[in-house]
Amino acid sequence: MPFSRRDFIRQTLMVGPVAMVFWIEKDVVAWAAGECGLPAPGADCTLPTPGTPQRFIPNEPKVLTRYSAREMADPSKATQLQQFRTAICAVRDLPKDDVISWTKQVAQHCIHCASTNTSNIHYDWQFLPWHRGLLYFLERVLRKLGKNDDIRMVYWDWENSASRTLPTIYAPAGQPLYWANRNLSGPRWPLTDDKVDVQPLLALPNFDIFGGTSKQRSPVPASYSGPHANVHNAFSPGDMANLQFSPRDPVFYAHHSNIDRLWTSWVAAGHKNPDFGDARVYFYDENRQWRYVLMNDLRDESKLGYKYSSLMRTQVSTATLQKITLNKTANRMGFAPQAIQRMKGTGPEFLVIQNLHNPEKMAADAVDFGVFAGAAAAGTVARSAKGFLGTVSRVLSSGHNHEGPLSAALNVSGKLGSLAEGNKGALDLTVAPLDASGKTTAAAAPLVADDVFVVG
Ligand code: C2O
Repeated sequence: MPFSRRDFIRQTLMVGPVAMVFWIEKDVVAWAAGECGLPAPGADCTLPTPGTPQRFIPNEPKVLTRYSAREMADPSKATQLQQFRTAICAVRDLPKDDVISWTKQVAQHCIHCASTNTSNIHYDWQFLPWHRGLLYFLERVLRKLGKNDDIRMVYWDWENSASRTLPTIYAPAGQPLYWANRNLSGPRWPLTDDKVDVQPLLALPNFDIFGGTSKQRSPVPASYSGPHANVHNAFSPGDMANLQFSPRDPVFYAHHSNIDRLWTSWVAAGHKNPDFGDARVYFYDENRQWRYVLMNDLRDESKLGYKYSSLMRTQVSTATLQKITLNKTANRMGFAPQAIQRMKGTGPEFLVIQNLHNPEKMAADAVDFGVFAGAAAAGTVARSAKGFLGTVSRVLSSGHNHEGPLSAALNVSGKLGSLAEGNKGALDLTVAPLDASGKTTAAAAPLVADDVFVVG
């Protein structure tokens, strides 16, 4: 037996008109924290040296719908939820040295984003395809161990205003989606609109800035720094807020399914995926074979056998969006009168910052950086400052930042036009680190970036 199997007793309790389902372990003592299998407490960031990888060409016969965690909480999905939980439990119960164990799922992520890794999966165009591959191969593992081809990933639709806290199916202790090292009471809960605003990302005109290029940090994908980073950081301090080891927490996979759904939604909004050429990503499959997949083969989800129950919708017709080029001298952005008039209209405006370098020089433990038009003193409450344009965020690894710039797309609708008009068309953009409550911890410094433009 490659893994030990623990049995669940499923108990249903009627509380008024509501049926509540509890999962109780038979061997509760072995599961002291109420968890389902405990990965080694140490930080395992190793995989056995694999043999020659075999190519894997995804070509699933059926396309199944991945549901949101909210949909999965509906009583009509109780059986499906139980199957999902049982399969997650089976992976969490594998011995930690098994190459498809929970520990090794975490390790393969860790390896790819260790600071010593010069091909970090978060900072180039692997970001979206690599995580899609991780979810896909884990789905295959879940189907095999759960002995059920119907099992599929669950997504956390945090962009939905009804889903701004941990999804309920993940919360109860004593069931496989529970995770003890998960902070739900930090100052970043509940998530606010600005932290999970997908509109600026859906409006990004090309993949280079949305998802990165073949070269590390050229630029860093903007999809890394917005809702992606903010949802990780909401759990600080806890495993989710530790980039390398975040896949320990089962909710990681629901979070990344939603990032995957963001990618699908970006394409559905009318944008084009690049040709990834012969770029590959590597995973162990459910038969413990070392595989490679061409990133080009990960572009079409239907080949991977899934679609999403709903997509994020862009609120603007992306076809009508234009790139407004700015005249730049250092951090001074000059807007032509025409652009100002346009921005003063009702249309949306998104400020796109490619490779913001300021964070490289700011406090190593800061995760949020406020962007302002004009000066901002230390101690400013960013969101109530007149010139506040938005936040750029990163995720720390074991408390340290990965050196390097960040990219972002900020929703500046209704702000930029009047700010620019009030300043004779010239805005001095600045950046300051923010604390968890959104206050600047130092005076803002002139913005330094590879490129800044407005899409509107
Ligand atoms: Cu690979 Cu959201 O982390």
